[in-house]
Amino acid sequence: MLILGIETSCDETAASIIKDLKRGKYASLQVLSNIISSQIKIHKQYGGVVPEVAAREHVLNILPVIDKSLAKAGLTRKTAMKKLNAIAVATGPGLITSLISGIETAKILGYTWDLPLIGINHIEGHIYANFIHADPAQIKNIILPAIILTVSGGHTMLILMKGHGKYQIIGETRDDAAGEAFDKAAQLMGIGYPGGPIISQKAQSVIHDKKYAINLPRPMINVNNFDFSFSGLKTALRYALKNDKNWKEKIPAYAFEFQQAVIDVLIHKTIKAAAKYNTKTIMLAGGVSANIQLREQMAKTVKNKIPSAQFKIPNLKYTTDNAAMIAAAGYFHALRKDFTPWQKLQVDCNAKLK
Ligand code: KG4
Ligand code: ZN
Repeated sequence: MLILGIETSCDETAASIIKDLKRGKYASLQVLSNIISSQIKIHKQYGGVVPEVAAREHVLNILPVIDKSLAKAGLTRKTAMKKLNAIAVATGPGLITSLISGIETAKILGYTWDLPLIGINHIEGHIYANFIHADPAQIKNIILPAIILTVSGGHTMLILMKGHGKYQIIGETRDDAAGEAFDKAAQLMGIGYPGGPIISQKAQSVIHDKKYAINLPRPMINVNNFDFSFSGLKTALRYALKNDKNWKEKIPAYAFEFQQAVIDVLIHKTIKAAAKYNTKTIMLAGGVSANIQLREQMAKTVKNKIPSAQFKIPNLKYTTDNAAMIAAAGYFHALRKDFTPWQKLQVDCNAKLK
C-alpha cells in the first residue's frame, strides 16, 4: 500500500509518501519521502505563529511540497494516480485557516485521481509517529493497551490507547500545553521562538551546574488525577525573574530548572497512569517529545519503576509536525477501510480523539 500524507495544521506545510513492506497490523512502514516547508523564520519575528500569515504561506507552499514529495518517492502526477492507494490529511485540531489548505488540496487530488481520502486527527498522527519503522520487529513490540504522553505546542494529554483507533483520554492540561509553556518561558527570558529547543539547549549547558539554586514549583504533581497545569509555572518564572536583578546572567540555570519542573510532572503522572492501567507499553508523542532530557529521564524511570514495560519514542524526525505521521495513521485507517467521502472531508473544529 502507498499512502500520501498531508499536514498543514499550524506553521509547517508537509507531505509524505509511506509504503508498507508487508500488509497488515504488523507491517513495517517505510518512509519514501518526508518533505517539510517550515515557516518558523517568518513567525519568529512576531514571537509566535500568526494564523493569517500561516494560511497564506500554506496556500503558496502546498503544491510544491506535494510535488517534491512525489518526486522523492519516485512518482509523477501520472503514476501517483495509479500507484497511490489513499490520501490521508490532518483535519484538526489546529488553526482552521491553515488546515483548510491541506484538506481542500487533498480533496481535489482525491477527487480528480479517484482515490479514497482519510481524515486524520492531528494528535492521532503524533501517536502514529511511534509506528514508523522499517523493521517489523519494532512494530510487533508495540503491545496494546499503551499509555501515551502526548506533548505538543497545542496539547498535553495522557492517552490510553486500547487498540488501533481506540483511545481514552485519561488526563489533559487545564491551561497551557507543555510546548506552549516552553514557548512562553522563552519569551519571558527573551531568548527566541520556538522556546522548547532553545530552553533545552540552554539547560544542557548547565546540566551539572549547581551554582545557582533556583526553585520553581511542580504544579499538580501530587494531585490525585492525571491532569496538568503549566500556566502557574510560567507565572512563577515571571516573578522569579522580576525579583532577581541578575537573572540575565543566569538564563541557563533558569532554563534548566524550568525544563526540569515540566519533566518532573510529566514523568510522575505518566508512570502513575501506566501503573494504574497496567499497560505494557509507554510511548511519547508530539513536539515536546523531541526533548532529550525528557526522553532520557523517562527511559530511566520506566526501567526503574516498571521494568516489565517497554518504552517507545518516535524517531526525532517525526516528533514535531510532519506528514509521515499522518500517512502512518492513515495506513492503519486504510487497513480498516475507514475512509472519508470527499463530501464529508472538512475541518474538524472540535477535533477530539474518539
Ligand atoms: O507537535 P508540534 O510540532 O506542534 C503542535 O502540534 O503543537 O510541537 C511544537 C512544540 C513547540 O511548543 C516547541 O517549543 C516544542 O514543541 N518543542 C520542544 C522541543 N522541540 C520542540 N519542547 C521541548 N524541548 C524540545 N527539544
Ligand atoms: Zn503537532
